[in-house]
Amino acid sequence: MPDPLKTIALRIDGKAFAVTLRARIGAAAADFAHAVARRPGLAVVLVGDDAASQVYVGAKARACEEAGIASFEHRLPAATSGAELLTLVERLNRDPEVDGILVQLPLPEGLDEQAVIAAIDPDKDVDGFHVINAGRLAVGQQGFVPCTPLGCLMLLQDHHGDLSGLEAVVIGRSNIVGKPMAQLLTDANATVTLAHSRTKNLAEVVRRADIVVAAVGRPEMVRGDWIKPGATVIDVGINRLPPTDDKPKGRLVGDVAYAEAAEVAGAITPVPGGVGPMTIAVLLRNTLVAAHRHAGLEPPEGL
Ligand code: GUN
Repeated sequence: MPDPLKTIALRIDGKAFAVTLRARIGAAAADFAHAVARRPGLAVVLVGDDAASQVYVGAKARACEEAGIASFEHRLPAATSGAELLTLVERLNRDPEVDGILVQLPLPEGLDEQAVIAAIDPDKDVDGFHVINAGRLAVGQQGFVPCTPLGCLMLLQDHHGDLSGLEAVVIGRSNIVGKPMAQLLTDANATVTLAHSRTKNLAEVVRRADIVVAAVGRPEMVRGDWIKPGATVIDVGINRLPPTDDKPKGRLVGDVAYAEAAEVAGAITPVPGGVGPMTIAVLLRNTLVAAHRHAGLEPPEGL
């Protein structure tokens, strides 16, 4: 029998938040185009024929067009050499119509991802992957922050308002999510623990947290009894489970066991429809900001 006293966490609707953010970006992009007589521009480079990357790149290009951002797609064969790719990046660095450059990862085997990222002009690096931007974030200078953690911060600030003094536990220490997430939360005055695969007593560490950000890439690893009652849970994981008879493509799950955690948490992001839609919205936001800086204009407030 269901327990009538059991509460279910608020579902943080990243999809709805992203729709609103994209509409605001669209309005600001139109103002920009009016002011400087060109649209903001994002160049997206895809090398090879990885199926998932093709879907992502298509979605990014469509989102740009919808928001009034020009998208310049460069699809190159898997056999492209490092030198050819670097030549394209250098051309895009010099192109005055291009405000942001995104080279879709992973690159085919044999191409040096770090060398390619290092070749991107840091002021066009809307992914925030360049070491200059990682350094700027580390020391609190203006730069570009990777899209996924910035999207998570926006959802957290929308839900909580001020994060000052809250205990935050980030699980996963990747350069793209975990590390920048810990820095953003620290800058927002949370008390941050960056946990990872070698953390001892991980469940106990997570139980201290008012805010949990899970970014480990392990399906449903974070269990309901790891969550402090009332905590806010942000699930960055997107994992596909093996196919079953009723789900022949396999079910998509996060890094958090959603149903269990939702019985304890105060608020939680679903998978899909939580963090995922925020990533593209923030990419558009970073491109719009890059365009303003590029044109010597102040980026719009509150984006
Ligand atoms: N591959 C998967 N996600 C991303 C992303 O956010 N940026 C880039 N460049 N490649 C990716």
